[in-house]
Amino acid sequence: MTKDQSAAASERIIIFDTTMRDGEQSPGCSMNLEEKLRIAEYLDEMGVDVMEAGFPIASNGDFEAVTEVSKIVKNAKVAGLSRSGYKDIDRAWEALRHAQQPRIHTFISTSPLHMKHKLQMSPEAVHEAVVDSISHARNLCEDVEWSPEDGTRTERDFLCKCVESAIKAGAATINIPDTVGYTIPDEFADIIGMLRDRVPNIDKAVISVHCHNDLGLAVANTLAAIKAGARQAECTINGIGERAGNASLEEIVMGLRVRHDLMPYENGIVTEKIIGASRLLSSVTGFAVQPNKAIVGANAFAHEAGIHQDGVLKHAGTYEIMTPESVGLLQSSLVLGKHSGRHAFRDKLEQLGFELGDNAVQEAFVRFKALADKKKDVYDEDIIALVEDEITQASEAIKFVSLGIIAGSKGPQQADLELEIDGKVRAIQATGDGPVDATFNAISALMSHTAKLQLYQVHAVTEGTDAQAQVTVRLEEDGKSVNGQGADTDTLVASAKAYIHALNKLIVKRAKTAPEALSA
Ligand code: KIV
Ligand code: ZN
Repeated sequence: MTKDQSAAASERIIIFDTTMRDGEQSPGCSMNLEEKLRIAEYLDEMGVDVMEAGFPIASNGDFEAVTEVSKIVKNAKVAGLSRSGYKDIDRAWEALRHAQQPRIHTFISTSPLHMKHKLQMSPEAVHEAVVDSISHARNLCEDVEWSPEDGTRTERDFLCKCVESAIKAGAATINIPDTVGYTIPDEFADIIGMLRDRVPNIDKAVISVHCHNDLGLAVANTLAAIKAGARQAECTINGIGERAGNASLEEIVMGLRVRHDLMPYENGIVTEKIIGASRLLSSVTGFAVQPNKAIVGANAFAHEAGIHQDGVLKHAGTYEIMTPESVGLLQSSLVLGKHSGRHAFRDKLEQLGFELGDNAVQEAFVRFKALADKKKDVYDEDIIALVEDEITQASEAIKFVSLGIIAGSKGPQQADLELEIDGKVRAIQATGDGPVDATFNAISALMSHTAKLQLYQVHAVTEGTDAQAQVTVRLEEDGKSVNGQGADTDTLVASAKAYIHALNKLIVKRAKTAPEALSA
């Protein structure tokens, strides 16, 4: 690389997505293999440079996910997280070795608080572990990233010493995590500037940042660090992650784009795919985005006040600093009606980004026709909910067959339910305290389990009383929680499907027990 090329390259911000690792650590956000593969494929098309697919030693499920994501990703680097022990690093490599561009991301805590109370290690022992872990990882994989956990609360001399040794041992990326979301923009920029000034070999590594949002400053801290010289930003779709979450990918990327005058850095994200990524993640995790969330919230481009509406009609720039189209928000369009044919339906699926085989298209078409019979107007959002529901139910051990309900104020509410369990149709009748309770009791009677219901949430997919209901159910069993989703014009059918979806996920989760407890 010539000097000029390396200067140009240094103006590019590497987007490191950790939705499938740190994002998955949000309570209730766990994803199964099929869901992670869908997300990985989408992130790859959207242009992330690195995707962290999981923490392979954490569970067999994580190991399998990192392995399978590694096999399918075409463009991005695939990272797997590991603590500093050789067993962790070897397990990460075992999963990552299938990737075209693998990266081992290893970390150890360096703050006085973490070293004393969590690790119970002296600073000297931690420093030795930094060098050992990176040397070991480099023997396996050329691309190694190192993170001093709780970096922003680490003593500066010790941070500089560890970073210098980490680079000497072979780490090409040094990631400074604000693990507990404690720093503020000025301080964080100062830490990055200090590393650039004081670590003699810092030019041999890319400085990365990883900010948590406990004070609502994750994106501000990330942008301040970029201005101070960081060239990799770690982030997640919709800002999901431990506790208050991580810096959100869409806010960082659109911040860089909209304020290119002050932050003249490039990145490879196809911004028009941002809304799609946000919706895909919400539908997989059941975590709806708050309406006023920047960039991807339902109100992010809505103008309520008359004076604003008037301004936007005269010139969109009066109240919009970016166009809805630039993040992939298209006008919700009336798609098809009950007279629409298969060909138009298939075209619509392609337009919405679904790549389905002939059988799946046919099944979705039959459901679309049934929906168009019940519902006057069918919108893009209806088609998305319908197809996602179809994809969800297709590969499950327990399948919904039919539901009859007696509801109202007169008698005991009753559910008549039919499920297909491992290929056999079974029927049952159950009562309950309301029709939802009766439905869930019927499912539990057919499929005995000890899981507790933690969340039951209903959203209307579009406007109007004939809208499809999208239901999220969260179940918890032995400390593990899973979200299930279901969609239907009948809220109770959608509720049954969501509960069944969650149960199916629990069955898969039970089969994948953690090989050992983690204390990272
Ligand atoms: O927040 C954190 O410190 C992390 C590290 C493992 C990078 O997630
Ligand atoms: Zn983190």
